[in-house]
Amino acid sequence: MCGIVGYAGHHQAAPLLLDGLSKLEYRGYDSAGLCVQGENGFQVAKAKGRLQVLREQVHDGQDLIGTVGIGHTRWATHGAPSDVNSHPQVSDSGRIAVVHNGIIENDAALRADLLAKGVSFHSETDTEAVANLIGWYYEQCGDFVASVRQAVKRIRGSYALGILCEDNPGTIIAVKQDSPLIFGFGKGENFIASDVPAILKYTQTVAYLDDGDMAIFNNEYVTFLNAAGEPVAKQRETITWELAAAERGGYDHFMLKEIYEQPKALRATISPRLMGGRVVLDGLELSKEYLQSLKKIYLVACGSAYYVSVVAKYTIEKACRIPTEAMMASEFRYCDPVVNEHNLVIIISQSGETADTLAALREAKRRGARTLAIVNVVGSAIAKTADDVIYTWAGPEIAVATTKAFTTQLAVVYLLTLAMAEALGTMSQEDYTQVIQGLEKLPEQVESVLCEENVKKIDYVAKRYCDHHDAFYIGRNLDSAICLEGSLKLKEVAYLHSEAYPAGELKHGPISLIEDGTLVVCLATIRELFEKTTSNIKEVKARGADVVCITLEELEGPAEQVADSTIGIPAIHPMLQPTLALIPLQLLAYDVALNRGCDVDKPRNLAKSVTVE
Ligand code: G6P
Repeated sequence: MCGIVGYAGHHQAAPLLLDGLSKLEYRGYDSAGLCVQGENGFQVAKAKGRLQVLREQVHDGQDLIGTVGIGHTRWATHGAPSDVNSHPQVSDSGRIAVVHNGIIENDAALRADLLAKGVSFHSETDTEAVANLIGWYYEQCGDFVASVRQAVKRIRGSYALGILCEDNPGTIIAVKQDSPLIFGFGKGENFIASDVPAILKYTQTVAYLDDGDMAIFNNEYVTFLNAAGEPVAKQRETITWELAAAERGGYDHFMLKEIYEQPKALRATISPRLMGGRVVLDGLELSKEYLQSLKKIYLVACGSAYYVSVVAKYTIEKACRIPTEAMMASEFRYCDPVVNEHNLVIIISQSGETADTLAALREAKRRGARTLAIVNVVGSAIAKTADDVIYTWAGPEIAVATTKAFTTQLAVVYLLTLAMAEALGTMSQEDYTQVIQGLEKLPEQVESVLCEENVKKIDYVAKRYCDHHDAFYIGRNLDSAICLEGSLKLKEVAYLHSEAYPAGELKHGPISLIEDGTLVVCLATIRELFEKTTSNIKEVKARGADVVCITLEELEGPAEQVADSTIGIPAIHPMLQPTLALIPLQLLAYDVALNRGCDVDKPRNLAKSVTVE
């Protein structure tokens, strides 16, 4: 989603802003722009399309002279991607320039009010209403800070804003509500950005702005105000990871790099939590009495994190015998869920900023539930808001299509399940020990699935089926949950229509769509259900489907009898099998996307961090 970078310093701002924006490209965007404040006022450049278009337009920034500026990558919400709708948006008065991430919900009312006051609009964006509102207040009072404060009081919705005022050269004001914004402390220079990678080359010392916070800064000084306008001291945090972690490091795409980083990410997430054959979860207290008092556990998330929740529903219910429901955050918010103090609400989010997930978390808290977040980004809004947080230690995930965040979220689900099952006494000691042993070897098992032989097989399958128009992913029980994620990956990066169905449900409708050459990817990794699932393979084969079957190595022989291609994965404790089952599906989606010539890391219309509803 939109990316913001702001700079006040002693270097030329434009090249630095372009560099910062390039590190935010992963968030997803469709146009970009800059405003640099020079001796003769604002210099604005905006362009629809990739950042490269803007870069060429301004000759790598050399055309815009000045050491203060704001930059933006826009993911269109109000108004199509176009030069005029790109940010920065400059007020009708010409004195205020604004970059914005989020949605202004009362845009229409603000517009009408400003139009009535004689202010003109030139774009379709909600951001222009903000620029004009600040601009209007500024015309009245002539005070930059006061006009931003007054405007912010009237804005409803979510926003991270970077604002320049022509009469206050050198100063940037940043303010945020429900959209992420960080402040970077440099020497003789200061920064704002939507995310760490944009400024990590220049500083490792940052502060995370809280909702309502305002930063007023120039190259030397910064003042932080809270929502009440009182000065606040913000905690300085040091970023411990290096920029290399957010770069491609020799891989063609971030998605591929992150697929191969999974063993490392899993080790980092699992090992610190296994001690003496037991799970120890970051000081999390889940007593037997508390767990027994629970009427239901909810898992709430969006996108792939929601599919982790679907896997978790099976896993937690089986091991802990507590009714568990997975819900999409966007639905949870508005369905008047039966949620109170007898519910634990587990929120799953890589970014920790997804608007619907954050809102669902707040709703769960409002209704009295205890909330536990599984989050990757330290210091994110969801991590700060939940009662408890367990971090996935996946490192920065850049590819829009999640891979390592998914598998580390799943790893935390396994750990949490074990901790709860142990407290409740619902799992035999033998089973518990086997899962612990499985978790210890999970990273190397993932490595073995990524072996050359499998990669070659998947390459072959991808080449063979990349021109298909439709794909179905089928499986039973935990396999059906992983099919949801495998199918989503294919849609996201390869733009191939794909549906996931529990294998037993296929005959109740979707089988009518199976015809000669329809691609069916079948997950059959559960021994007890293997024969049932192979029957479903026969049903689709009989109707002309091409079937790729992912199964346990030991079952590959029988699978070869019914499927066109097979990929074998090692067996592990059944609770952990979904992780290994997913790896070939990630690679398959990646390879199909490459064969179809898709831009794997920047899939059309998608955003990494969805900070609007
Ligand atoms: C976007 C991303 C997905 C992600 C979802 C939820 O749609 O493209 O990969 O699963 O948001 O994001 P979160 O950061 O909350 O996990």
